[in-house]
Amino acid sequence: MTNPLGVSPMTPWWRDAVVYQIYPRSFADSNGDGVGDLAGVTAKLDYLADLGVDALWLSPIFTSPMRDFGYDVADYCGIDPVFGTDADFDDLITGVHRRGMRLLLDWVPNHSSSDHPWFVESRSSRDNPKRDWYVWRDRRSDGSPPTNWMSLFKGVPAWTHDDATDQSYLHVFLAEQPDLNWANPDVEAALNDSLRYWLDRGVDGFRADVVNLIGKGTDVDDLPDHLVTMPLLATDRPFGHELLRRIRTLLDSYEHQPMMVGEVYLLQAGQSASYLGDIDGGAPELHLSFDFRPLHTPWEADRMQGALVEMEADFAEPGWPTFVLSNHDRVRHRTRYGTEARARAAAVLALTIRGTPFLYAGEELGLEDGVVPPERVVDPDGRDGCRAPIPWTADGDDETGHGWPERPWLPFPSNATTHAAEVQVGDPASMHSLYRALLALRHQHAVLRHGSIEFAPLDDGDGADDDDADGDVIRFERRLADERVVVIVNLSDAAAPWPTDLADAAVLLSTARDRRASGAALAPDEAVILNL
Ligand code: GLC
Repeated sequence: MTNPLGVSPMTPWWRDAVVYQIYPRSFADSNGDGVGDLAGVTAKLDYLADLGVDALWLSPIFTSPMRDFGYDVADYCGIDPVFGTDADFDDLITGVHRRGMRLLLDWVPNHSSSDHPWFVESRSSRDNPKRDWYVWRDRRSDGSPPTNWMSLFKGVPAWTHDDATDQSYLHVFLAEQPDLNWANPDVEAALNDSLRYWLDRGVDGFRADVVNLIGKGTDVDDLPDHLVTMPLLATDRPFGHELLRRIRTLLDSYEHQPMMVGEVYLLQAGQSASYLGDIDGGAPELHLSFDFRPLHTPWEADRMQGALVEMEADFAEPGWPTFVLSNHDRVRHRTRYGTEARARAAAVLALTIRGTPFLYAGEELGLEDGVVPPERVVDPDGRDGCRAPIPWTADGDDETGHGWPERPWLPFPSNATTHAAEVQVGDPASMHSLYRALLALRHQHAVLRHGSIEFAPLDDGDGADDDDADGDVIRFERRLADERVVVIVNLSDAAAPWPTDLADAAVLLSTARDRRASGAALAPDEAVILNL
């Protein structure tokens, strides 16, 4: 199947795109089993096209026993029945493409489910041909685990002993998520075949889960003490880059320019960007690599500007940054930052800095995390709050309604009634309208997508060396040919003076509901986009 969308040889589509992450279990339920599904997503495609996003990324939809809600895959080429059928998938991708959008799938290469037939074989005997597809080791002579690695979930060792064959297997996450051994070429071939399978079915790319971990191969010796509980941060190995260069060759052999964005959970300067490969003149690896530093930065101007400037330096051309504030693993930024005004200003940041923005479903509604009572906690790592179902309609309570035919698998966000989609669509003062306006501006103004970026030194934003500087205003300028756009974000809960050199600039957009023109002081947490 070929992709019906035009591709420009000049600018890869993903540099122009805004990607919208859908956590399918929580998006929309078409069959009333309380869990969102593919037909549910298809039913909301007009909503998404109208919002103005360019690509959808679906968190895992493959066959899974759901110990980690799909990040434990039992068949890399099968759709889990809870999400629907192959036909539902074909309807979805056709509907996405018909609306000019693209579809990305979540690909989980580091580990499979322990229910995957590969692991069932692997654990069956020491001489099974698939034994070496996973990472097996003998216990130490004192009976303790083979090495000191700790799992990222539940604070247990990353090794589980299997009595049947008297060896232990590695799992950086749950014991039900055994790590694959990418040093075995058959593993590489099988996983890369799964990419081909979905590319042949028309998908436009992948988000690769914890992708830096695959480079560990069988190099799983003791870690230094400070990394024992964080093996994810300890696996930046040359072998991973080699694997990604081969994956890139595979992706680039398809004409429709499939894109891979990697979840690279490495937070030191330069680390995430190094997974683009070509940034230092090497061969290309990932097209995009998440940089989670801004997500881990509090809403304070000096810290946020610091993170943005570091990211910009790391991902300078030919690199290309991403921007993400929320996803299915972290408390939503609306909840983290505490106020709607801040979330509105953050939306301006997300959609105006250089790079490809990734939005998490529901942030366009300003949704808060759900409050999940202990008896309803289901995630092994306590991430249920940010996975609360999307409220489509206002009618309902914490548990039922809101456009879901039956009580969903998790309680709704705490502001579901006031912030349901139906309440916000069409209300010019809503968060939804702000996102829609921002996405339209990006489409209209190439400078917001391709322009260079330059940050002003942190002061009150007027760039002048005067003493009204209070240091809470981030200001940057995007330039493309003779188009110039300035973005100002007041990260303080006090008003800030309007920059004197911008007294007459035209206001393209403001997050303050009563701004009419330039000149008057910036409201607390106001963000403005100006055209020079
Ligand atoms: C990634 C996913 C997370 C999952 C983990 C293990 O961090 O985003 O949800 O639990 O990998 O696959």
